[in-house]
Amino acid sequence: MINIAIDGPSGSGKSTVSDIVANKLNILHLNTGALYRAVGLYLIEHNIDPNNERDVLSCIDQVRIELKYIDGIQRVYLEGVDVTDRLYSLKVSDVCSISSAYPKVRELITSIQRQVAETVDVVMEGRDITSVVLPNAKYKFYLDASARIRAIRRINDTKNQDHLNMDDLARVEAEIIERDRRDQTRETSPLIRTADSIYINSDNITAQEVSNIIINKVKEGEK
Ligand code: DC
Repeated sequence: MINIAIDGPSGSGKSTVSDIVANKLNILHLNTGALYRAVGLYLIEHNIDPNNERDVLSCIDQVRIELKYIDGIQRVYLEGVDVTDRLYSLKVSDVCSISSAYPKVRELITSIQRQVAETVDVVMEGRDITSVVLPNAKYKFYLDASARIRAIRRINDTKNQDHLNMDDLARVEAEIIERDRRDQTRETSPLIRTADSIYINSDNITAQEVSNIIINKVKEGEK
């Protein structure tokens, strides 16, 4: 089984790069952030305060999340409904960055992720893939970029549902820095760069160039 594990902060290009790599190698791309976002959406829809850990934990066993691939594109189902296109608002980003810190939330999502990795070739990207979910993956990468560049990407992202423009740059950058802080300092599965991951900074290179580095490593390893 080919398992490619990619971690990195929000906006570092993991998703775009993983799409290119998955296409080129004809394997699945699992965007794990979307699963954590689905939990966030569930909390919003059920009026559950993400800061109230007890309330979050008491509902988590009822959260029904499924992954499907339609023409190779990942779709996320919540309670049987395709919610993929509703996962990328700032509200969902904010709520899920709080709820993803809870160990029980991580257990639920980690088990979905491991099931996929055991059954198909996959490029899986997130925050704790190289460290916790697939520590033994043969191919491990850490993607990075400066907060400013990531904020610009966020504003230009076609999935951006908040109609952001360059006037919002300072605010978006500040939110990214705050989310990084939360992801990197939480007790359970913080975002870390493992010693055996290849580090790639994409400030000055394109997603295609980053993808080529990864594809070449995998092709070398599979010879
Ligand atoms: O990659 P993203 O921005 O879509 O991730 C959304 C949130 O989920 C973000 O706050 C970090 C969290 N996340 C996580 O904790 N672990 C992962 N493997 C992926 C995402």
